[in-house]
Amino acid sequence: MKVMVLSGANLGRLGRREPAVYGSRGYDDLVAACQEQAGELGLEVDCRQTDDEATMLRWLHEAADTASAVVLNPGAWSHYSYALRDAAAQVEGLLVEVHLSQTHAREPFRHHSVISAVAVGTITGLGFDSYLLALRVIASRLSRDLGDRSGADA
Ligand code: DQA
Repeated sequence: MKVMVLSGANLGRLGRREPAVYGSRGYDDLVAACQEQAGELGLEVDCRQTDDEATMLRWLHEAADTASAVVLNPGAWSHYSYALRDAAAQVEGLLVEVHLSQTHAREPFRHHSVISAVAVGTITGLGFDSYLLALRVIASRLSRDLGDRSGADA
């Protein structure tokens, strides 16, 4: 099962960007960690990052059209992009919102995400583990759903 792992604006600058907040590991390290976790879980991950909101919208449309599960870190778009929220709402597969930093302990504008209401859940503040836990949740839900379906077929 393929999972799209989508990271938004400025996340390609991990490692160089505010290391006190986001840590010293880079985006490539994040991709490697997701691939390793996915391998352990029997998932295939397609990790992408963009600073362009229109590109992120297209990727979410692709996820909707292919019924893919999504791990989404919308970056700052979380806090104001109704367009991204409307695109995320079209994803019928599991969509888990993640944040590396503990947004609730930061500036007030980061305390609200317009995406959360259309995500199955949100994992915030655990660094790379936010993404890795999201993959674990997706693997567990997908295998539960498959089990339910094979039970129904029996
Ligand atoms: C972020 C939190 C956002 O507030 C911020 O704009 C980001 C990264 C995080 O992963 O902690 O770009 O989504």
